[in-house]
Amino acid sequence: MFDPNNLSFRKLELGDIPLIYKWLKEPHVHEWYDREKQNSLEEVTQEYTKYITGEDPMDGYIVYSEATPIGYIQKYKVSDWPEFAEALGYGVGVAAIDIFIGEAEFTGKGLGSIIIKKFLKEIVFAEEGITACLIDPEPENKRAIRSYEKAGFKYIKTLDVPPDPGFTYLMEIKRGGSNNLTSSLAAPAISYEESSTYTTD
Ligand SMILES: CC(C)(COP(=O)(O)OP(=O)(O)OC[C@H]1O[C@@H](n2cnc3c(N)ncnc32)[C@H](O)[C@@H]1OP(=O)(O)O)[C@@H](O)C(=O)NCCC(=O)NCCS
Repeated sequence: MFDPNNLSFRKLELGDIPLIYKWLKEPHVHEWYDREKQNSLEEVTQEYTKYITGEDPMDGYIVYSEATPIGYIQKYKVSDWPEFAEALGYGVGVAAIDIFIGEAEFTGKGLGSIIIKKFLKEIVFAEEGITACLIDPEPENKRAIRSYEKAGFKYIKTLDVPPDPGFTYLMEIKRGGSNNLTSSLAAPAISYEESSTYTTD
């Protein structure tokens, strides 16, 4: 079992952009993450620089396994992206996250759900006033969906969210339930009832 204590998050910095660019080009990432974009170095630099300067209200982090950067995770408030919030039917107090593990050898080992649980506890629900968190994989991304279920997310609905192509398989986790980081890390799977809430205790 991977020890979550070996994982950490560091705020995205300008010096990380070449690594993000490289990861977005990895086939296992490109298949599911921002594949509709060009992801040229110029485009990636422009987009992620706005996250770092705060021009775009996106909170990006590099995920580390011990000293090795292995992926990227970001959170935002859906109310900061009004068209998106309206399409989803969510508003103030609701966060959303996106994730990719950039280093292919770190995928498929159960790390995704562990990273997400830790991120929910340490970053997302550490912010008072956040009552729920969403994640929006494509319905065909079965590995991601399973990983998010293991992290405690519950399926809400499938919907079309323009301008993104295809459909979104919307999942939610609420603050304040029984899904605690340590116990559920060891559990083989999280039941439907357990998965709908989250506690920061
Ligand atoms: C999605 C991602 C974060 C998941 O992390 P991960 O560490 O690879 O996944 P996990 O090991 O936590 O969980 C994967 C689960 O899906 C299952 N799985 C894998 N491939 C599957 C498939 N084709 N169909 C159904 N389930 C599948 C695994 O068996 C595992 O479930 P189990 O533990 O019950 O056996 C990671 O794979 C990733 O970054 N992928 C590339 C980019 C991406 O898809 N990002 C998400 C965009 S929404």
